[in-house]
This record gives sequence, C-alpha cells and structure tokens, in this order.
Amino acid sequence: MTEQHMTDLPEPLPRGAVKTSRRFTRLIASRAFQRWAARFPFTRRMVRSEGEAMFDLVAGFCHSQLLQAFVRLKMPQLLLKQEMSAAAISEEIDVPLDRLQVLLAGCTALGLIKRRRAGRYALTTRGAALAGVPGLSGMIDHHEILYLDLADPVAFFRGHVETELAEFWPYVFGAKGATDPRTVAQYSQLMADSLVLVAEDTLDAIGFGSAHRVMDVGGGTGAFLTAIGLAYPDLSLTLFDLPAVVPAARDRFEAAGIQNRTEIIPGSFRDEGLPDGADLISLVRVLYDHSDETVADLLRSVYEALPPGGRVVISEPMTGGVVPHRAGDAYFALYCMAMRTGRARSAVEISDLLRGAGFADVKAPSTRRPFITSVVTGVRLD
Ligand SMILES: C[S@@+](CC[C@H](N)C(=O)[O-])C[C@H]1O[C@@H](n2cnc3c(N)ncnc32)[C@H](O)[C@@H]1O
Repeated sequence: MTEQHMTDLPEPLPRGAVKTSRRFTRLIASRAFQRWAARFPFTRRMVRSEGEAMFDLVAGFCHSQLLQAFVRLKMPQLLLKQEMSAAAISEEIDVPLDRLQVLLAGCTALGLIKRRRAGRYALTTRGAALAGVPGLSGMIDHHEILYLDLADPVAFFRGHVETELAEFWPYVFGAKGATDPRTVAQYSQLMADSLVLVAEDTLDAIGFGSAHRVMDVGGGTGAFLTAIGLAYPDLSLTLFDLPAVVPAARDRFEAAGIQNRTEIIPGSFRDEGLPDGADLISLVRVLYDHSDETVADLLRSVYEALPPGGRVVISEPMTGGVVPHRAGDAYFALYCMAMRTGRARSAVEISDLLRGAGFADVKAPSTRRPFITSVVTGVRLD
C-alpha cells in the first residue's frame, strides 16, 4: 500500500473497543440471540429491517435483470405513449402472457410501473425516469458486459478474469485503441448522453465565472464544454481529446452557437504536454480510467499548462474512502476494476494526487448527487 492510500485509512480503534465490538458481532451472529431478539417489539423491528436489507442484497442480481429486461424491451418508451393491458404489452414486445405477468409483477414490486384499476399498466415516476434521463437506458443496456465480467466474482477479485468491458471503451488504452470511427462514435454518444447530469451537478457545485478560458481535457465530443459555454456566454473554450474523437465536437458547438469562442485541439496527454492558454482546466470522468502513475503525470501536465492563479476542476464518481458508500464502493470501484486500466478513487486520494502535482488550496465542494459525480478543485499558486 502506498503512502498516498494510507492517508485515507481510518484511525485504529482502541483495544478495549475492538474486543467489545468483536463480542457484539459474535452475539448478533448467534442463532439463539436472533431467536430472542425476534420476540421483543423493539428488537423485532431491528431484526426485520436487517432481514429485509439482507434479502435485498441476496436478490440484487434479479432486480438488475428485471431492470435490464424492462429497458431492453423498451417498456418505458411503450408505456410513456399510453397505459396498456398485459395482453397488449405481450403482443407488442413478443413475450408470452404467462411469462410477462412475472415480469410485470416484478417491475411493479421494484416501483418501475403500477397497475391501474382497469388492469392497465402505467409508468411510475421512477419508471418514467428511464425514458427521460439521458444516457440512463444506454448505461443499463451495456451492463450486460459488466455482469459477464463479474459472473465468477471470486475469480474476478483474484484477478483471474480477462474482462471484456475495456473492449467496449477502447480509448483507455490510449490513442492507438481509439481509431475506429464506428467504435468511437458508439462510446462517445453514450458518454455525451450520460454527461448531462454530471455537467448539471458540476456546474451547480463550481462557479466558472471568474475564468477567461476553460480547457476540458479528455472532453470527448464537447458535451461538457457546451454546457459550460451555454451557462457562461463570455467564456472562451478549448477542447482537448484524441484525434479520432474530437471531430464530432464541431457540429455540437455549431448547433449550440458557441463555435466562435471554441477551439479544438487533438492530441494525447499520454504522449505530449498540454497546450497552454487556459486559466481553468477541467477533467471530467478522466482520472478513473488511468493508473496512479498516468494520473500523476497528467496532473503535472495540467499544472504546467496553467498560469499562476489557474484552477483545475476534477469531476467524476468517487469512492467514499474511509466511509465507503454504495455508489462509489459497491459499484464504480468494481466497474473500474473490470476496465483494468484505472481505479475509482476517493476525494482524499485525488486531493493528495493534486497536492503531489504542486496544487494548493485543494477543496472538495459537496455535490447534489454523489452517485452522479463528486468534485475536487486545486489552484496553481505561482
Ligand atoms: C470516460 S471518457 C469522458 C469523456 C467526457 N469528459 C465525459 O465525461 O463525457 C474519457 C475521455 O478521455 C479521452 N482520453 C483517453 N485517453 C486520452 C488521451 N491519452 N489523451 C486525450 N484524451 C484521452 C477519451 O477519448 C474520452 O473522451
């Protein structure tokens, strides 16, 4: 374990507290205690909610697969148009009625749809989000590859699985992996769709108003810059990404009417330094794809490219560090491991990497939805 990870470790508990906590854990695990606890109203409630939480973990895979079927069969789009009977849905999506009833009941239990009195099915707000939230259905759809990678979790954690997920996102292996225009178009579209919420929450957490030129490094086809450009009409913008990725940005900038204050610079941050001229550099969902070594080099290049007083903004899903959380530690961290090239990091780890590159005044402002993105910023002082 490197020193940088050590900073993220919790303080060890005093010996007495460790013993008491171990005794308590053994007590909870004993069948006799569980039977005793189930008899009293207060402990009964605790036992029951713990039992439900445990069952949710046990059933999680079935829940995900119900969701996957719901999305793949395009049921959100279907039910968005009109409420429908089970028989009509069955005909439309080509699933036999008796099997569809199981799918409909499961989706009802998960709060995706509701059954009206007349026996017709309608979307709930949660179900409607699948039709309306940009990129969400696409993300769920491509999870098939992640689930295949995780099919043998023990082998996965032992590092014995040649995971497939990285093939879906070939850019992580550097400029050489991202030259096929069709593949690039496929992943760039998914990134751009799923960026909408990330951009919303980043702009909500950070003011870009004091900057003159923002450069988005690894900015894909310019979706983040477009969001900033529309929010700040006086800002100049620079997009930096791989040569096979950036051409599609031109149409996006033109459609948004920001082409006159936008420049596009193709290049690879692994092979060359970054262009200067920007007083704010953003890295959105870039660091987690790369090793600590590549990230350290990249952050040093960012530092070099900024003038004194310039700011770096990092926005991506992060782990919880000493307080692991479900989105960062029980999802993104596995996703990044399946990608093989990088890892999910906590705000503390990213802050340490920023300080290591020379940045000061490192801050982690809170974001609205940490399961969408978290933010860390730093300043080049001189
Ligand atoms: C996960 S995507 C994020 C794209 C965009 N920032 C977003 O959040 O939608 C990572 C981006 O980094 C770019 N990238 C990867 N390696 C790169 C490199 N060596 N130089 C420049 N860009 C690179 C990829 O092409 C891709 O657009």
